[in-house]
Amino acid sequence: MNKYINEQIRSFLEEPDMIAALANVSAVISQNYDRLNWAGFYLVKNGELILGPFQGKVACVHIPFDKGVCGKCYRDAKVQRIDDVLAFPGHIACDSASRSELCVPIIVDGQVVAEIDLDSPEKERFTADEENEMIQAAEDIAAAWTEHHWPN
Ligand code: SME
Repeated sequence: MNKYINEQIRSFLEEPDMIAALANVSAVISQNYDRLNWAGFYLVKNGELILGPFQGKVACVHIPFDKGVCGKCYRDAKVQRIDDVLAFPGHIACDSASRSELCVPIIVDGQVVAEIDLDSPEKERFTADEENEMIQAAEDIAAAWTEHHWPN
């Protein structure tokens, strides 16, 4: 457990520009968590999930709400910690190296406005502690969303 990651994330959320803030948050996550091949955001926009700031290889730009781990995270408004993505029906492989995934909804006024999405080439990569850190990050991002009047 990295007790500083949430403090670092909160400091970058003082920035009022959404793209700038989320770009730095994606960098903080990828610098603090090892064995990731992707760390970033999907944003809810025009009835689908659209690629946001991230660190990693090129990724799917549009994800429908009924597809993939990210779609399930949106529909259920619940964290998806997937130990083996190959066993997840409908998983979208942006990078065929991905083996586990952690997807956390960012909820503002009861609506999912975005998601934190992390991928790893290692099966069962994500711990319960990291899940809790990303839930805290999502709550801090939701607070910044309201404070800075980001679009939803
Ligand atoms: N694997 C995700 C798609 C996004 S990429 O991992 C960056 C999914 O199944 O929804």
